Amino acid sequence: MSGLLAGKRLLVTGVITDQSIAFSVARLAQENGATVVLTGFGRMSLVERIAKRLPQPAPVIELDVTDPAHLTSLADRVREHVDGLDGVVHSIAFAPQSCLGGGFLDAPWEDVATAVQVSTYSYKSLAVAALPLMSPGGAVVGLTFDATKAWPVYDWMGVAKAGLESASRYLALHLGPKGIRSNLVSAGPLRTMAAKSIPGFQQFEDAWAERAPLGWALTDQEPAARACLALLSDWFPATTGEIVHVDGGYHALGAAM
Ligand SMILES: NC(=O)c1ccc[n+]([C@@H]2O[C@H](COP(=O)([O-])OP(=O)(O)OC[C@H]3O[C@@H](n4cnc5c(N)ncnc54)[C@H](O)[C@@H]3O)[C@@H](O)[C@H]2O)c1
Repeated sequence: MSGLLAGKRLLVTGVITDQSIAFSVARLAQENGATVVLTGFGRMSLVERIAKRLPQPAPVIELDVTDPAHLTSLADRVREHVDGLDGVVHSIAFAPQSCLGGGFLDAPWEDVATAVQVSTYSYKSLAVAALPLMSPGGAVVGLTFDATKAWPVYDWMGVAKAGLESASRYLALHLGPKGIRSNLVSAGPLRTMAAKSIPGFQQFEDAWAERAPLGWALTDQEPAARACLALLSDWFPATTGEIVHVDGGYHALGAAM
């Protein structure tokens, strides 16, 4: 087998449509020699249908990251398909509508708690659930949206992403001694189901179209997916707690007055 991820066994979460960033990760990973097991949330028959569109149909395991029973049984259920894991991809986020679109000052704690549990804490939960299958050289990769800044309309999801960026550094700290890396890809705006649920997402699209030095394709998930593959590969063996920006260079610019 040849390719960047030849022989690697990956668990990829977060496929819900073929526009999902996770779908591009799974497709490219297979094209580059990996064996992929997917997890699906909620609409399992839809995820199973999408999984059949991959170059090789991938098995789908149910995983709601807020369900302790799903998490504790995850390793055993993955083991039915592969004998270990070399990489885990966290491509999961959710916030109730109150948390997005300008509602920062009014969103109730229960809704904020949901956003943080699904989008932040789950990064740790997923890694710990997969840990029994992992060994030195393994990697966990997640997706963020630059949380060093406050964005209009992103609100509590921005706070959740700031937490995710910190959680990835702590995971790097705690899993480093086991030889397991934790890194994030900070992607620019992409038209996925999650993005469409953010009222005012158009503002991000316009900003990137106007300012990203390399330009930015709103419907091309492949650059972000390629970075995930690189971080899962053996080509970043001494990199952990890192955030790689795949945003056309937008983050590098200052704001013009
Ligand atoms: N689309 C963008 O503009 C963009 C930019 C930067 C980062 N990201 C991040 O990329 C990741 C993937 O999002 P996407 O844009 O591909 O959208 P998407 O809607 O395709 O994927 C989001 C996924 O989260 C899953 N999910 C939600 N709640 C869950 C739960 N309780 N348990 C398990 N899974 C759950 C959904 O089933 C879905 O598959 C997210 O972390 C998102 O924040 C997206």
